[in-house]
Amino acid sequence: MKEQLDQLKQFALESLQGVTDNDSLERLRVEILGRKGKMAELMKAMATLGDEDRKAAGAAANEIKAAIEGAFATVAGRVESAARSERLGREWIDVTEPTIGVRSGMGNLHPVTQVREDLEDLFSSMGFIVADGPELESEYYNFTALNIPATHPARDMQDTFYIEGHPDMVMRTHTSPVQIRSMQKYGVPLRAIVPGRCFRNEATDVRHEHTFHQLEGVVIDKGITLGHMKGVLETVAKHLYGSETQIRLRPKFYPFVEPGVNGEVTCFLCKGAGCRLCKKSGWLEVFGAGMIHPNVLREGGVDPDVYSGFAFGFGLTRLVMLKYGIDDIRHLEGGDLRFLKQF
Ligand code: PHE
Repeated sequence: MKEQLDQLKQFALESLQGVTDNDSLERLRVEILGRKGKMAELMKAMATLGDEDRKAAGAAANEIKAAIEGAFATVAGRVESAARSERLGREWIDVTEPTIGVRSGMGNLHPVTQVREDLEDLFSSMGFIVADGPELESEYYNFTALNIPATHPARDMQDTFYIEGHPDMVMRTHTSPVQIRSMQKYGVPLRAIVPGRCFRNEATDVRHEHTFHQLEGVVIDKGITLGHMKGVLETVAKHLYGSETQIRLRPKFYPFVEPGVNGEVTCFLCKGAGCRLCKKSGWLEVFGAGMIHPNVLREGGVDPDVYSGFAFGFGLTRLVMLKYGIDDIRHLEGGDLRFLKQF
């Protein structure tokens, strides 16, 4: 019996040496230590022995069983750690790899923002504040307060988006409503510019877009004249297009100014000689302006008998198109990075 037990131990230790994975370890465990395994067989055989022998064999069997179980435990540990290091090897990670995924590229300011910031700097240096107003505007500020009553045909010049359920609200068609808002907010004397988005219900094409940018200016004080206005606008034109640049003011009707002018600058491409850009005229139309109408001053709470002022509105989007030679206005709000990355 003792001999058979030793043989079993020998067999177990030898078999275990070749075991490298859990499956074969488990199979071997069943074969040797299982309910119907080799060990169990020997135990069964022991039952047939006489009392003395059975006692001795029982003690030996327990010892050997413990030894075999110990050997199994050792091998189980070895298999487990081998599996772990194999997994670690396979699941190798690069700790230097960025964890947030695809690196996002460097952005750049939208060309309209670049030109706007440049003009904000220029006007700040001349003592202007940069004011702001709502894009969803009341019909009152956008039209009525600007001397454009409900039935006035001038409303047709600026068809806008009306808001369902809010008949008295519009998407502002220009930045001019902020003339009055800033008179009310800051009082006079006043020097302010208002850059901002405007909206018109346009059939879009290369020169028309439903969303565009303007830059409004307003100056109010005692004794302000058209001469002051021309001086400021000339400064802006020279800043934008060089010191040679001249401006030309020609009468144009806007209900909220009197007199009103249409402002042009000498074409920076042909220097006034006439080319494709300026349609052979030598001039580029870039702003509307004029002396603020007394009715508008009154709406802003300013006494037109004491104060006078001028206002102007640049098509900021148009300035950008001219500056960069952009031939289709729709690129500017199109959100196409291939276009925007060029600036
Ligand atoms: N608001 C006018 C427009 O959008 C421009 C303008 C501004 C004209 C200020 C005169 C004075 O066309």
